[in-house]
Amino acid sequence: MSKKRRSVVRRSHEPENIGTPLTTPLSPSVVFHYPDVDHLKAVYNKQAQGFTYARYGNPNSAVLADKISWMENAQGGVMTASGMSALSAVFLSLLEAGDGIAAATQLYGQSLKMTSQVLVRLGFNTTFFDASDSATFVNAIPANTKIILAEIVSNPMLRVTNFPALVKAAKDVGALLVIDNTFTTPTGFSPLDHGADMVMHSVTKMLSGHSDLTLGYIGANDQELLNKLDETVSTLGLNASPYNCWLAERGLHTFDLRLKQAQSNAARLARLLFKHKNVTKVHYPGLSTHPDHSMAKKLLDGHFGTMVSFVLNGGHENLNTFLRAAENIPYGPTLGDVATMLIVPAVSSHRELDKSERLKLGIEDNLIRVSVGIESFELIRDDFLEALDAA
Ligand SMILES: Cc1ncc(COP(=O)(O)O)c(C=O)c1O
Repeated sequence: MSKKRRSVVRRSHEPENIGTPLTTPLSPSVVFHYPDVDHLKAVYNKQAQGFTYARYGNPNSAVLADKISWMENAQGGVMTASGMSALSAVFLSLLEAGDGIAAATQLYGQSLKMTSQVLVRLGFNTTFFDASDSATFVNAIPANTKIILAEIVSNPMLRVTNFPALVKAAKDVGALLVIDNTFTTPTGFSPLDHGADMVMHSVTKMLSGHSDLTLGYIGANDQELLNKLDETVSTLGLNASPYNCWLAERGLHTFDLRLKQAQSNAARLARLLFKHKNVTKVHYPGLSTHPDHSMAKKLLDGHFGTMVSFVLNGGHENLNTFLRAAENIPYGPTLGDVATMLIVPAVSSHRELDKSERLKLGIEDNLIRVSVGIESFELIRDDFLEALDAA
């Protein structure tokens, strides 16, 4: 480039470098330019590999999708802006007028809102079923069902889906089975290997692990499904930000270690809570008292997860006393952070349900959900004992 015709306004060339960066470079560019029409056309027509405009994908989302697809044993996957946009992409890609949805009653609160209100307003019918109770759901899923949605380990009651029976029920009605694997993680269970059609994640949570981004993922083993999802994500603008994908990839490097430590802490915390006089119930699939313990043992290969829910003795005041006394454990509406966190589902994730519906699911006013972190167990133990004793 001639010196005379340079301008600070114009873009620079990357410096020559025969080395390869160790970390994935962050690629915030919205657009990728080409030397001529033929090159751009070849990329649009998928005859050549490349990126065009960020809503259609970017290098960081491609790297991250590939990594999570590998973890989930998926042929491919699509990144989205959040877990809820991943779920939106599934429904908006695949539903056609007249199609039905079947959703588990035990789902994240906003997934319940999407299936019971938003999609119903758009003309789709949703049937709800108890995913732990195959005796009732085999006959409850209508013949026009196109998509079935369930979580393997549910939020926040940690109920476990009877997955083999649900796969059979989906086949019987010819529906696509979508599993939200956020709580379970790819290590706990691999839905695609066992008969699900799609797996989704709120990557915001345990996979990225640091509460500094929102992202979603959907994976599948069917190219036609993947193409539809990809098209919906780019057309409706549900795409993921490069920076969030870059951060999430960094978080994923330590996923195995974080999971191992947090799972071990969760098992120990569940046992501690079980014995405490101010705790009336503990929900944790690794306990033999859990209603789905035998299904959890069958599906999860000992990976009972990083979440524990429990019911605190007493009323609202007691709940506040506990939360204030647990001053080192943040009380805030998320999960999957490196550090232990608390939420009260009745006032956070499930606040939009009627009280009677909420109680039917077992979500009592004093139910506390613990997202167990990777601190030393001794620290967690001492903080909990202090707060429980104060309550
Ligand atoms: C099980 C589950 N699925 C989906 C979501 C939604 O994810 P996001 O907040 O990334 O949209 C959440 C969020 O808490 C969740 O817990």
